[in-house]
Amino acid sequence: MGDPLLMLHFLFLFLLLIQIFPAAVATLSTFPIAKPGCRDICGNVSVPYPFGFGSNNCYRDTTFEVTCNDTYYNPPILFFGNTEVLNISLQGQIRILNFVGRHCYDSKGNTISSNYPLFNMNNSPFTISDTENKFTALGCDTYAYINGSDGKQFRSGCVMSCTNKDDLMNGSCTGIGCCQTSIPKGFRSFEISVGSFYNHISVYDFNPCSYVFVVDYNWYNFSTSDLLNFTNEIDESGYARVPMVFDWAINWPKNQSNRSCEEAMKDNSYECGNNTICSVSKNGVGYICNCSQGYQGNPYLGCQDINECAYPNNNPCIYSYSCTNLPGNYSCSCPNDYQGDGRINGSGCTHNPKQFPVIQVTVGIGSSLLFLLTGSLLVLWALRKRNLSKLKERFFKQNGGLLLKQQLSLYEGRSTESAKIFTAEELKKATNNYAESQIIGRGGYGTVYKGILPNNKIVAIKKSKLVDESQIEQFINEVVILSQINHRNVVKLLGCCLETEVPLLVYEFVTNNTLSHHIHDEECKSSISWDYRLRIATETAEVLAYLHSAASPPIIHRDIKSTNILLDDNYTAKVADFGASRLIPADKTQLSTLVQGTLGYLDPEYFHSSQLTEKSDVYSFGVVLVELLTGKIALSFDRPDKERNLAMHFVTSMKENSVWEILESQVLREGNNEQIYEVMELARRCLRVKGEERPTMREVAMELEGLRKYVKHPWVLQNPEEVESLLHGDQPILDLDSHNNPIGYDSLRAQGIRPLNIDGR
Ligand SMILES: *[C@@H]1O[C@H](CO)[C@@H](O)[C@H](O)[C@H]1NC(C)=O
Ligand SMILES: *[C@@H]1O[C@H](CO)[C@@H](O)[C@H](O)[C@H]1NC(C)=O
Repeated sequence: MGDPLLMLHFLFLFLLLIQIFPAAVATLSTFPIAKPGCRDICGNVSVPYPFGFGSNNCYRDTTFEVTCNDTYYNPPILFFGNTEVLNISLQGQIRILNFVGRHCYDSKGNTISSNYPLFNMNNSPFTISDTENKFTALGCDTYAYINGSDGKQFRSGCVMSCTNKDDLMNGSCTGIGCCQTSIPKGFRSFEISVGSFYNHISVYDFNPCSYVFVVDYNWYNFSTSDLLNFTNEIDESGYARVPMVFDWAINWPKNQSNRSCEEAMKDNSYECGNNTICSVSKNGVGYICNCSQGYQGNPYLGCQDINECAYPNNNPCIYSYSCTNLPGNYSCSCPNDYQGDGRINGSGCTHNPKQFPVIQVTVGIGSSLLFLLTGSLLVLWALRKRNLSKLKERFFKQNGGLLLKQQLSLYEGRSTESAKIFTAEELKKATNNYAESQIIGRGGYGTVYKGILPNNKIVAIKKSKLVDESQIEQFINEVVILSQINHRNVVKLLGCCLETEVPLLVYEFVTNNTLSHHIHDEECKSSISWDYRLRIATETAEVLAYLHSAASPPIIHRDIKSTNILLDDNYTAKVADFGASRLIPADKTQLSTLVQGTLGYLDPEYFHSSQLTEKSDVYSFGVVLVELLTGKIALSFDRPDKERNLAMHFVTSMKENSVWEILESQVLREGNNEQIYEVMELARRCLRVKGEERPTMREVAMELEGLRKYVKHPWVLQNPEEVESLLHGDQPILDLDSHNNPIGYDSLRAQGIRPLNIDGR
């Protein structure tokens, strides 16, 4: 086998065998042919239902009953009546052995023996197959005929005369010593007879007998020796027999000939099982059943799918591993760079290199990707669906929902309208799934969306940036604080949502942007008059005074700045963002905390000591006052060093008597000088370095209120000494020189930066 050529030869032979015998190989599998519990074989003859023997439920009816004689014969012999059965096929045929008629003479022309069996099957459902059988006569001085009477009548036969032995031909039954003729269709019985004109006297040496029989013509092959002594299949009495074929069928009911399969199907007695096709039998006396294409078995018991791929080494596919069995069919495939149906008896597989890289691969990858994608989406969807409620619960906990509930219950009953807890779904709907178009503000804290609740109420929804654990407290803080405050100048918190990954806060919608926007944006400046500025300052001061004294316990806002003061259409101030606010326990006037706030507004004393008091808000408010007066941003790196921090620049300017130069021109135009001076003076006091020297918010609010109501004195220049004393001891200045970041003035807290923790905590 070392010779590669030899191996190739074997391979070729092997392939050839597969090509020739695929069907034979595929049908090797076994299936039941008889009813359960019935013998299906007698000797070497298979007995398929509707035939059967033994118990009476093994055959359809007595016309299909056969007997197996296994006591007398070894091997056993199957009998149909007293006729030996050779074969029963499910294709509707049964082969039996039929006697040969003969008439023999001696050399003088005397009869030695004669036998003309009458064949009668009148009571059987079978007819003599006209397609498989031929009436056959043998002899060279012979006449023979067949008589049939089965409703119809017929008589036909052969007449032969031959004188020369040498004229005979083996294998040719065409009139010389052998004659064959067709028989008509549908006969169940016949008579045969044979005779001789001259009693074989002249042909006695090679043909002493005349023979006559009906035979399976495919089986019978004429041989010249048959004329001498035809002794095929001698039975025990010495009679010769030849195979003959009958057509069998499930007969139409008596007196109902020429029915159809459709009609038969309606009968209770319909015999065809699953996966079968009914067809009218060839002889027209009934119907037969056949397995549908791709199925095998006994159709009278039901057919089973053929597993064409069951034999991996010789299934009907060129690439046997590509074989896939299908009900009633099979499929084959070709490798990637081949095309065709892959079947041995089909178009096979032909190489097609052009299609390989582009189409097949693309289609292959594309479809598998699509499949994967669809699959994983489905899985994801299912998982999401299943985990959503768990997830919501987790977020609720992570977002401090429990803590919040607890906190809120502590303050229950104190506020007239407590915050509502919204569902994620509600807010998603309200913001049109957080559409870009709904965004009304963005900052370090997150994004603010405009939303519309089902009751048409417009709200602002603050979506925080991803929170870490430490920010949760802050978040709850704001909710708790705001839910307790009921002040017309505080942005109302309507509720929150804790089911989402990041907490969402829902506020009343304040229509007219921030104070910062109005005083710093060039386009808006003219719209905000001195009167408005004064009123906004007063309202903000009142809120802070309320937080510091009226609210119980006191609340410190900690992040007062112009961007946290919102305005409605009437320029009414609404203080917002209580995320950094602190409740001061009743027994304490100050609180140690991490320094929080916004650069430019941050109380320097608090910055250094980390001791939080109400006065930190006063300082921040002072910065807002200065902003209102000057229209300048609290901290700007675009300005010269000295002017970067507005609060300091303002205080210095007051000291240097140059403060009027930095005031907003509109303020100068519209404002009463005395009023302006009083406000400047108030701002200066608010910005004092030492917290205890600053006025309380209550005082600030009252002064501003008073200023709004009437004009007191004409403007008087302040006492320079006082200014001097105020500024003695430099205010701590945040060293921001190293920063060039133009957004450095933004909220420190919002950026997640915690300024110096001075007392080490
Ligand atoms: C019976 O018939 C089938 C097909 O007609 C054939 O394959 C088989 O060899 C036959 N058996 C006998 C015992 O003649
Ligand atoms: C026909 O075949 C038989 C045996 O098969 C033989 O004995 C006989 O000689 C043959 N006859 C002719 C004419 O070939």
